[in-house]
Amino acid sequence: MAAGLAVCAAAALLDGCRGQRTQAPQRLQVGVACYNQSDTFISELTDSFREQLGGEEYKELAPTVTLKDAAGLQRTQDDQVKELIDEGCNVLCVNLVDRTDPSEIIELARESGVPIIFFNREPVNEDMMQWSGLYYVGADAEQSGVMQGELAADAIKADSRIDRNKDGKIQYVVLEGEAGHQDAILRTEKVADTLKKEGVELEKLGSGVANWNRAQAENRMTQMIGQYQNQIELVLANNDAMALGAIDAYEKLNITKATFPIFLGIDGTDEGLKAVEDSKMAGTVYNDKEGQAAAMAELAAALASGEGMDEIAFENERCIYLPYAKITKENVDAFR
Ligand code: GAL
Ligand code: CA
Repeated sequence: MAAGLAVCAAAALLDGCRGQRTQAPQRLQVGVACYNQSDTFISELTDSFREQLGGEEYKELAPTVTLKDAAGLQRTQDDQVKELIDEGCNVLCVNLVDRTDPSEIIELARESGVPIIFFNREPVNEDMMQWSGLYYVGADAEQSGVMQGELAADAIKADSRIDRNKDGKIQYVVLEGEAGHQDAILRTEKVADTLKKEGVELEKLGSGVANWNRAQAENRMTQMIGQYQNQIELVLANNDAMALGAIDAYEKLNITKATFPIFLGIDGTDEGLKAVEDSKMAGTVYNDKEGQAAAMAELAAALASGEGMDEIAFENERCIYLPYAKITKENVDAFR
């Protein structure tokens, strides 16, 4: 019965009857499939999503959220999506393991008429075009790289001691997120471009992939310190967890603070904000998890109830991108 209603609501919606309620609003049963719940940013994002759906505004829909963790395996996630549909979810929120491989999930959802809100790991456009019941909520990756570059340039211009060997260039390393992830690719590219545009002369010493993960970043950083000794003046990490892993490496090697490079992250996770506040990180870029969670909640509610779709500002018809923001010690309080 519930599944039948879900199909009807979704079908009515997709037929273009947006905003017109043809029946009493049904319950909102959201199935959330995460690529890896041990990812700090993702777990903070899904916590915020649950919390916001529990708010007064959605009370009428009596929302429930069932969360499944694929722990990094696409096959597992495909099975979990099937389970979520079988359990009667009428909206799916999917954080793909492999963003280039959503076909199986799209097929399952389309067959049962359950719309999907992809989030954080963006499918390619070709896949988004496979069905009109597919949506995406995320952020503009390019902007985060630009902002990180601006933060780094500001710090370097404000403090001549950062160029420790006084050669007029900044020796740097990059800690990268997963290979093939839209955020890792664009952040890595844009941060260096922006620093150059800002007139900072750069010398890239090396880089390491650490898959968004603090422990892996500590390992990579320890290796790079072994290789480049005290030459590293700047560490650009694709996210806060990896910037913190890099700091862990320096701290565990008992390197004197005066020869630390500066560290920049992205996300503004709880521990990232703390590191900015404590001046361990020179800055970070806010990846607006509250805004993304709010957009997901609003969209999920609209999809289930058939109401409010008109009020949502989509880009490219079915995508929502939240803006990033720069964070330094000066404004960090506003993000806590
Ligand atoms: C990024 C975020 C990373 C990681 C990744 C997972 O947007 O900055 O910390 O969570 O998503 O897909
Ligand atoms: Ca230098």
